[in-house]
Amino acid sequence: MCGIVGYVGPQQAVPILLEGLKRLEYRGYDSAGLALLQDGGIIIQKSAGKIRVLEESIKGMQFDSNCGIAHTRWATHGEPNDTNAHPHTDGSGRISVVHNGIIENFRTLKQYLERKGHRFNTETDTEIIAHLIQDNYQGDLFEAVRKALTQVEGTYGIAVVSLDHPGEIVAARHGSPLVIGSGNGENFIASDVSAILRHTDQVMYLEDRELAHITADGFNVATIENTEVTPEIEKIEWSLEQIEKGGFSHFMLKEIYEQPLALNNAIRGRLNFEEGISRLNGLQLQMEELLSIQRIIITACGTSWHSALIGEYMIEDLARIPVEVEYASEFRYRSPIISDGTLVFVISQSGETADTLAALREAKRKGATGLGICNVVGSTIARETDGGIYIHAGPEIGVASTKAFTSQIMVLALVTLLLARQRDMSHEKGRQFVDAIQKLPSQVQSILDESDQIKRLADMFSDHNNFLYLGRGINFPTALEGALKMKEISYIHAEGYPAAEMKHGPIALIDENMPVVVIALKDQVYDKVLSNIQEIKARNGRVIAIATEGDEEIKRLANHVLYIPKVMYHLTPILSIIPLQLLAYFVAVNRGCDVDQPRNLAKSVTVE
Ligand code: F6R
Repeated sequence: MCGIVGYVGPQQAVPILLEGLKRLEYRGYDSAGLALLQDGGIIIQKSAGKIRVLEESIKGMQFDSNCGIAHTRWATHGEPNDTNAHPHTDGSGRISVVHNGIIENFRTLKQYLERKGHRFNTETDTEIIAHLIQDNYQGDLFEAVRKALTQVEGTYGIAVVSLDHPGEIVAARHGSPLVIGSGNGENFIASDVSAILRHTDQVMYLEDRELAHITADGFNVATIENTEVTPEIEKIEWSLEQIEKGGFSHFMLKEIYEQPLALNNAIRGRLNFEEGISRLNGLQLQMEELLSIQRIIITACGTSWHSALIGEYMIEDLARIPVEVEYASEFRYRSPIISDGTLVFVISQSGETADTLAALREAKRKGATGLGICNVVGSTIARETDGGIYIHAGPEIGVASTKAFTSQIMVLALVTLLLARQRDMSHEKGRQFVDAIQKLPSQVQSILDESDQIKRLADMFSDHNNFLYLGRGINFPTALEGALKMKEISYIHAEGYPAAEMKHGPIALIDENMPVVVIALKDQVYDKVLSNIQEIKARNGRVIAIATEGDEEIKRLANHVLYIPKVMYHLTPILSIIPLQLLAYFVAVNRGCDVDQPRNLAKSVTVE
């Protein structure tokens, strides 16, 4: 949510900042701007719209700056116009700030500053920070920022420059990620490593309530209480190639096609066929601790919440441990019961989602062991959990989550196997499970190879304004996820339901204009789903069935059939979601939507 990038060093800052912003654009894209220290002054350029609008607006201008900060915004306070775009300045125009997060006490601070004579030009909470820094300034920028932040409540990742301090950036973090990139005679600050990976793979993640003073020669870090922190440099494992489109027209399509590879990465070194088991050392749990688990709570948001629901079906059915799944935004504000033997899993692709992080902290506060299933290595959630499992899906840039979803389910299958084999699952069943898991990447590939068929279907249905998605059992969450993919990237209203619930309300919507996507696999609920299809057909609904290869019967009922390979029931969502991802993608492209950056959305939701 919002992106920050900053540079100080011998190179021209503008190209580095613009390139960094473009790589961060997936985090927020309603306005963008930059502040440059040049010739003893600060140059600020900002505009509503995407980065290309900003780029266009500064075309032909000559810059000569070696130090600057930049921002791409996802609006929280104030509409996305030129004025509200970051950077923001204090009244004197000497200090400039970019900010991610929300200042919760900004009204109180505004009144306090107004009483002292400060005047404000924007509707943003960020402008307050610039004024507050100025209010605390007595010749030391770092100290002024530090003091200002002791007055602030809320979340922030900020970068600050001042014309009185050429060649210096002060950055601070509380609840909104920031990473310092360490270069050779140059340094960087960014909200996400992708912005600076072209220049350095040596980084230091700032922790909450830490500030950094950055120059070309180095950086110092201290806490907000002014205790010095020894920087720990880490190496980024992601390559530049991984964060580029590599010939695909969209990141989302690239990421859909990366799923066989991502699934292989998720299982690499973690399965043992002979023994029919999985090994997940990252959980940091001893055998006795795993055996003493009485109950599991899984909490997450959005797509990750859907994978959690699939995990619930898998773990309860196969490991026989009670599982509850809850939206992180709900979990954090009630008083969840965490009894002895309760394990809490949080699932997050980004590892930065504000509600999920807060839920993790709440669970840990109540004494639970908090484990994570994350993609981004070094992310806040990954660092704050007691243990966890990385899904190793590689960077996911498309705002709509695809490969992270299937990789999360894969990891949940490994967790299930681990827990089930300690309990009732036999050696033979364990081996069958391992065998089925290992076949999944090539089965996903075989569905991707048939994408033309899905494209043809998308061409037929792209002008519809509503879609219904139905599934039962473990594929009910798949229906939810299919509907989410469709609505978020194509702006078509789509709803997911458990198939049998249809007759308790949604059936009223069905007529010849309502495409209904039904996941109708040859499993224990197949006959029940066929009855649901009959009910739709009786009302002239148009059925697109996701069916098991070799099922001829379904052809007589459904208007269109997309086949997926046969697989063990508990692993079916990894296959059944693939055609639904592709269907949403092709429909969105046909409708001319911005697939990778859908309106109003942002990757990594770091505000509540
Ligand atoms: C939908 C999507 C979102 C995320 C949600 C949680 O395609 O991507 O619903 O799943 O914002 O994000 P993470 O997994 O990063 O916590």
